[in-house]
Amino acid sequence: MNTQAQPAARTVASTQSEMTEIILPNDTNTLGNLLGGRLMHFIDLTGAMAAYRHARTHVVTAAMDHIDFIQPVRLGDLVTLKSSVNRAFTRSMEVGVKVWAENTRTGAVAHVASAYLVFVAVDEHGRMQTVPQLKPETPDEVRRYDDALRRREHRERENARRKEAKLVARAQTDGAAS
Ligand SMILES: CC(C)(COP(=O)(O)OP(=O)(O)OC[C@H]1O[C@@H](n2cnc3c(N)ncnc32)[C@H](O)[C@@H]1OP(=O)(O)O)[C@@H](O)C(=O)NCCC(=O)NCCS
Repeated sequence: MNTQAQPAARTVASTQSEMTEIILPNDTNTLGNLLGGRLMHFIDLTGAMAAYRHARTHVVTAAMDHIDFIQPVRLGDLVTLKSSVNRAFTRSMEVGVKVWAENTRTGAVAHVASAYLVFVAVDEHGRMQTVPQLKPETPDEVRRYDDALRRREHRERENARRKEAKLVARAQTDGAAS
């Protein structure tokens, strides 16, 4: 467990994280493009780095709820992922991850993907932990902070809708069986 006293709030800058990978044959499909699942793995890892820097305890991925694959990444490209916490709630944090690919021969850099993830802070026994609040400082950080609340509300509505649909489907199956 993290025994250090947690601050009441952290800045977005203190959560910023970055990772660069070279795309090798094992990472690609039969067309020589980066596999979507491999990119999601890189996104999960880079997102977790920002969440760790905010929570300073273990984190688990609760959701990866929006991902845009804008253009393919090619074998041999350098992929750079940047992440930061958009907003902290009680025990969860929304993290944004943006991905760029660099063609090593031409030097051309393109934005290839973006994603939002939610991480939940837990201790070493898996018990949920509260996290410090996030203090947005720049206009872009304030915009992401506000948007994160709207996405959380949307997520909650979607989760409630899915739960309700499951209950209805179960009641129909039970009714048909009796
Ligand atoms: C994530 C997990 C800890 C949440 O547990 P839970 O009992 O459903 O949590 P609660 O409903 O009490 O919510 C706890 C927090 O998680 C958030 N949360 C839970 N499920 C979520 C979801 N699907 N999407 C976004 N946030 C979610 C809640 O909003 C809440 O946040 P808050 O405290 O900041 O308000 C639990 O579902 C879990 O352990 N999942 C597996 C995690 C894992 O193994 N990840 C790797 C995937 S391979």
